[in-house]
Amino acid sequence: MNNVLITGGAGFIGSNFVHHLLEKEPGVRIWNLDALTYAGSLENLKDLPDLERHIFIEGDICDRPLVEKILRDHKIDTIIHFAAESHVDRSIEGPGAFVRSNIQGTFSLLEAARKVWLENVQLPSEEVRFHHVSTDEVYGSLEPDAPAFTEDTPYDPSSPYAASKAASDHLVRAYGYTYDLPFTITNCSNNYGPYQFPEKLIPLMILNALQGEPMPLYGDGKQIRDWLHVEDHCEALLCVLHKGQVGETYNIGGDNQPTNLEIVQKICALLDELVPDTGVSPRESLIHFVTDRPGHDHRYAMDISKIRADLDWGPRYDMERGLRQTVLWYLENRDWLDAIILEKDYQSWLTTNYERRGE
Ligand code: NAD
Ligand code: TYD
Repeated sequence: MNNVLITGGAGFIGSNFVHHLLEKEPGVRIWNLDALTYAGSLENLKDLPDLERHIFIEGDICDRPLVEKILRDHKIDTIIHFAAESHVDRSIEGPGAFVRSNIQGTFSLLEAARKVWLENVQLPSEEVRFHHVSTDEVYGSLEPDAPAFTEDTPYDPSSPYAASKAASDHLVRAYGYTYDLPFTITNCSNNYGPYQFPEKLIPLMILNALQGEPMPLYGDGKQIRDWLHVEDHCEALLCVLHKGQVGETYNIGGDNQPTNLEIVQKICALLDELVPDTGVSPRESLIHFVTDRPGHDHRYAMDISKIRADLDWGPRYDMERGLRQTVLWYLENRDWLDAIILEKDYQSWLTTNYERRGE
């Protein structure tokens, strides 16, 4: 891994991974291709440890000539593909963007890789790798007592987002089987941590609690996710890139499975402790239950025994430590939060998603 194309590296996980890779891999040069949609921001890339080894390119992964040119001009040997529309609620509002970026975008990258790596043989095939970052949502929803998802669980996506990611996973595997494109796939659970856009549960709740705004829990708040700290995810990805077997899929999870209500209660307790005396105390009084998300998956849980056994990776954050670190990060980075909210027309999303939900 010398010359790496990261797609979506101005988003939440991608930007954390850019920081991580620059810190951990002194020999690597990064080309970061990102369309800077509402979810991507250069604010996420302001404090990079080594600017010389990171080149940002504003562009769309669906632009195949551009992708081919990047692969050729910079002798890219590794593609790490994060770029996607990523928010389930937005996929319910407008699925078209998900089909475009997640399915057509992945197809465009695969075609560019096939042409430059396999047809023009720019590099020997042992030296190239297409790594696709995917989600546990492709597996659908688990019944309360069902065993956790393994890599062999059949796909059963519920939302347009999950269906578009499932389609992209199938395309990546098909390019491996049909054209011998060297690939790996990781399916990970819900991430949290620094630089997450405040439309997702944890940063949304931190922001609303800080502003004294209602904290909207969908349905009964008893849904379960398998929360993974983004730093643990970055370590797992690097581990798969170094030690993962070509053609394999690895599940990544955090071994943390609280309900949404428990998470939000923890956020309230942390803020009561860290920012007391704001007039809204206890902050739990801000929690309110609103109309559920249609097709809402009740429970996700990841069986991570394969990556533990084969690659010796496991998460290092428990939820207590991870949430405290995350809440502190948002408190210490109010400038980032304020800039993101201003830059991204955040208010209009809140209106679209929350005004129609009754209590
Ligand atoms: P994000 O929404 O924060 O960032 C996505 C980035 O991709 C943004 O910077 C955006 O500008 C860019 N992008 C979108 N469409 C593009 C296009 N057509 N061309 C170029 N760039 C484009 O997403 P995230 O939370 O960082 O997720 C990254 C990846 O991880 C996604 O593939 C997502 O499906 C997957 N994933 C995320 C989670 C999670 O909890 N956040 C969990 C599992 C898997
Ligand atoms: P989210 O962060 O959107 O991730 P995903 O839908 O990919 O799991 O949501 C996490 C959980 O939190 C999910 O069960 C939906 C719930 N949720 C709420 O209850 N209220 C909210 O305002 C949001 C954004 C999510």
